[in-house]
Amino acid sequence: TQVKPLQKALLDWYSTVHETRGMPWRKPYNASQTPAERSQRAYEVWISEIMLQQTQVATVIPYYNAWMKKFPTIQDLASSDIDTVNGLWKGLGYYSRAARLLSGAQKVVKELNGHLPTNVKDMESKIPGIGRYSAGAICSIAYNQCVPVLDGNVHRLLSRFLTLHAPPKSKQTLDILWSAAESFVQESTKPGDLNQALIELGSTVCKVRDPLCGDCPLKNWCKAYCQSSPSPPKPKSNP
Ligand code: ADE
Repeated sequence: TQVKPLQKALLDWYSTVHETRGMPWRKPYNASQTPAERSQRAYEVWISEIMLQQTQVATVIPYYNAWMKKFPTIQDLASSDIDTVNGLWKGLGYYSRAARLLSGAQKVVKELNGHLPTNVKDMESKIPGIGRYSAGAICSIAYNQCVPVLDGNVHRLLSRFLTLHAPPKSKQTLDILWSAAESFVQESTKPGDLNQALIELGSTVCKVRDPLCGDCPLKNWCKAYCQSSPSPPKPKSNP
């Protein structure tokens, strides 16, 4: 299958839904940003992605805004303390996320000249609390790098897309799904938008129960849809 038409379908869909939901962490990528501006964007995306990991978008928005008001930069966060951080986190749950943001920020300020790493590998290895998913999200959204994301939503979407019936957490399954996520984003001109389209499509359309297949921009390529629909629509191109 050619990936270009899939990327176009995803980005077209994304442009019709994004910005309508008022997510303050979503800003257009600026190709001429300075290293300091790049690191600032990475900080913003980092905070949003950690908050979004176990919490719904609508819940996260006011917490994100309050956090950015209190800690506009990573330096502001690093010079705070765990009680202040936990206070801002109150109600979000999974408090270890907040503690790791604080210790991560302190490490960046103490050991990395105040700038978050500029690639997935360094991010994953150097920052406590940043795993493969967060590193991919930050590097694609803040830096425009063609690196994949696989969260629970994208996992479910891609498993259906490929009709992968396998133990969801096995190494083999994860390898297949990370590779699929990688192929979706490869050579994209808008990897951050593409990844966010996958995440958002997974959470709002390719839902756990009662997925809204009729609304899905990928349905004509989706193996699960093409196989289970009583009379699958004729794919437009590249089935
Ligand atoms: N969930 C996790 N990351 C997200 C993002 N960038 N936009 C919307 N929902 C998300």
